[in-house]
Amino acid sequence: MQERIDQAFELGDCQGKKEECLLIYPERVFDGVQAGRLLIVGLGKDELTREMFRRAGGVVGQKALGLKAEKLFLVVPEELAFPVDDMVECLSEGLVLGSYQFNKYKKKEEEEKRPAIKRISLYVQDGSLVAARKAVKRGLAAGQAGAAVRDMANEPGNVWTPQAFAEYGAKIAGEGHLLFRVMEKEEMQELKLGGILGVSQGSAQPPKLVVLEYRTGRKVPTLLLVGKGLTFDSGGISLKPGESMGDMKYDMCGGAAVMAAMQVIGEEQPTRIDVVALVPAAENMPSASALKPGDIITQYGGKTVEVLNTDAEGRLILADALAYGVEKYKPDAVVDVATLTGAVIIGLGHHRTGLLANNDELAAKVLAAGERAGELLWRLPLADDYREQLKSQIADLKNVGGRPAGTITAAAFLQEFVGETPWAHLDIAGTAWNYTEKPYVPKGPSGIAARTLIELVRSWK
Ligand code: BES
Ligand code: MN
Ligand code: ZN
Repeated sequence: MQERIDQAFELGDCQGKKEECLLIYPERVFDGVQAGRLLIVGLGKDELTREMFRRAGGVVGQKALGLKAEKLFLVVPEELAFPVDDMVECLSEGLVLGSYQFNKYKKKEEEEKRPAIKRISLYVQDGSLVAARKAVKRGLAAGQAGAAVRDMANEPGNVWTPQAFAEYGAKIAGEGHLLFRVMEKEEMQELKLGGILGVSQGSAQPPKLVVLEYRTGRKVPTLLLVGKGLTFDSGGISLKPGESMGDMKYDMCGGAAVMAAMQVIGEEQPTRIDVVALVPAAENMPSASALKPGDIITQYGGKTVEVLNTDAEGRLILADALAYGVEKYKPDAVVDVATLTGAVIIGLGHHRTGLLANNDELAAKVLAAGERAGELLWRLPLADDYREQLKSQIADLKNVGGRPAGTITAAAFLQEFVGETPWAHLDIAGTAWNYTEKPYVPKGPSGIAARTLIELVRSWK
């Protein structure tokens, strides 16, 4: 076997460059292993990182899909100067993410469907086996969370409705250690969640506020997660242009990331932290009953907002959820995730998630979690100067601050609803889809932020 590999290197057909692949058809049994194919993936010469193994895993996943390989046996290169648990965690994560496919609506091409990978086995030397096994479990869980986000995002707006979010919450609560509740429209009316009610009033889909709670039963800090679950954003009366409006079915990716993260948290049951998740889910449509530019709404807690552009709807539903969550659960920290502004694409492109925070310590934690998860963020400033742009002539706030610093004024709007609680906001409008191409990120929704949230909880001290 080794001779064949050596031969490929001698001929120069393979150099072991980063993500380079060498596919060999070995004797049916070699080194005691029975396999139809042997795939060697290059790692290059640069210093090894978690991201490199995630990418290598992605390459394997993509290849396995293409070859319709259903059973994989991974041999981990233990002679490398890199922690084996990090290596196998990221390989497994990349493998799941790289072999992702969504073909449930391709009914005609049934025969072309690629089978999903059925089994992944790993070969690691005995000494590290227990740690490696745990690491693989972590990697698979995180990978599956990313895939779950992609699944929700890929569903069209007529299927993935606010009701679908509620059903998903019920499902994961039944499987894991989570409490689940849905706040329906009637309760929103009683409690005066004017943002969610206002945004959804033009739609035939009733809004839902999905609540999931993970409780340790101990005296530990509480983290509140909030995700924008806008299942379709037409812009409302401030209608978006037709071009690529279809992408606005992805406007629920923040909510999906929060749900998928909770799913993993409910399974892993961390001991150092309680987590409460709120997903305000609604559809933004134009109709005779829709909000109109100039309308004034009252958010949860009593602040009034002049809605000058009905397309700036994300902040309205998030403001209710943030204000309600902060008051009801008195969290020690809040993190929200939202496809909030087109402006973040202008500022950071499709390569970094925008991070805004009122607290440096929390911002550092989120940045570190994103780094470990391979989901990079870049922090933008928040200051009173920006708040000025949201002053309304006749209400407490207006919902748009003009073109300059659109991402920051959106965050400044949200900041009004968290009080002094440490809070971080992730604007994933540039990264939730059309994200930087990577072997483990196919075209379509990226599944971003779920893994960052999971990492944040896993590493919480
Ligand atoms: N969901 C959009 C933000 C968005 C735009 C996400 C493009 C991904 C790609 C959000 O609801 C929105 O429409 N924001 C407006 C705000 C503006 C009216 C102040 C925007 O960014 O144009
Ligand atoms: Mn919008
Ligand atoms: Zn939106």
